[in-house]
Amino acid sequence: KRHLISAADLTRDDAVLILDTAEEMARVADRPIKKLPTLRGRTVVNLFFEDSTRTRISFEAAAKRLSADVINFSAKGSSVSKGESLKDTALTLEAMGADAVVIRHGASGAPYRLATSGWIDGAVVNAGDGTHEHPTQALLDAFTMRRRLVGADSGLGRDLEGRRITIVGDILHSRVARSNVHLLHTLGAHVTLVAPPTLVPVGVEKWPCEISYGLDEVLPESDAVMMLRVQRERMNAAYFPTEREYSRRYGLDADRMARMPEHAIVMHPGPMVRGMEITAEVADSDRCTVVEQVANGVSIRMAVLYLLLGGYESAAPAAPSRTE
Ligand code: CP
Repeated sequence: KRHLISAADLTRDDAVLILDTAEEMARVADRPIKKLPTLRGRTVVNLFFEDSTRTRISFEAAAKRLSADVINFSAKGSSVSKGESLKDTALTLEAMGADAVVIRHGASGAPYRLATSGWIDGAVVNAGDGTHEHPTQALLDAFTMRRRLVGADSGLGRDLEGRRITIVGDILHSRVARSNVHLLHTLGAHVTLVAPPTLVPVGVEKWPCEISYGLDEVLPESDAVMMLRVQRERMNAAYFPTEREYSRRYGLDADRMARMPEHAIVMHPGPMVRGMEITAEVADSDRCTVVEQVANGVSIRMAVLYLLLGGYESAAPAAPSRTE
């Protein structure tokens, strides 16, 4: 069985194959007719138990550009609200002949459960599970860094070797940070996390990265700075940093951006809270890749669906790592 559950499951060869395949897929987006017949007759189900704009839309666009049939399922408005379980939802999708299930779920480990349960035969792709992982986001981020910092055709997986990536903000609740740390480490980059002490996960010292509490010191050494949203919806009120204090210490404004090397880029997975972790001036600047990241997400998701449904032997899913 082939699934994509965790960026930590990807070898360097796996990751580079996905990035290189995504470069091929990006060429399709430049054509007048943005479609390949590759997955004609296959069915991709987007199974979203949590809200999403970018991930859901880009998986749909990716599947359609590969000519797959797409079924979009949102828990809101479905029989999940009547108490239907993940198992019975999965059995329903299996009865409809799903070849791939793209799942976003609030519970860390839900995609792993789906992939290993035997409820469905198709490939499972994790589109974000709780605070655990969001592997396609990390892949599209690495793709964006490779294009902006190195160039598309560098190949051989050594292209992010030695690059310094800084991830700033609510690391505690961020599946994006967790997937990026694993993938960037696999690709040879050095990652530094910058966060308020209350938003750093317990056990982070075991992650393959460094921790810093001072943003201004790391900015001049960074090739890319990835800003994260403070995920208030996953917080108890006692955790809430005040917006003003948070922005002052951890927000990226034009003055702080000026401390970064000239070639360095600003990234954000979205959704952004302008004025909190990033000012509008920075978000709208040429150095900010947020819109590019979304476009690159379609190419990455085309590559993932193509490789999973087209016969490439990938890593078996491992049990999710600890989640908080
Ligand atoms: N980056 C990301 O996962 O965005 P959505 O929640 O809008 O999908």
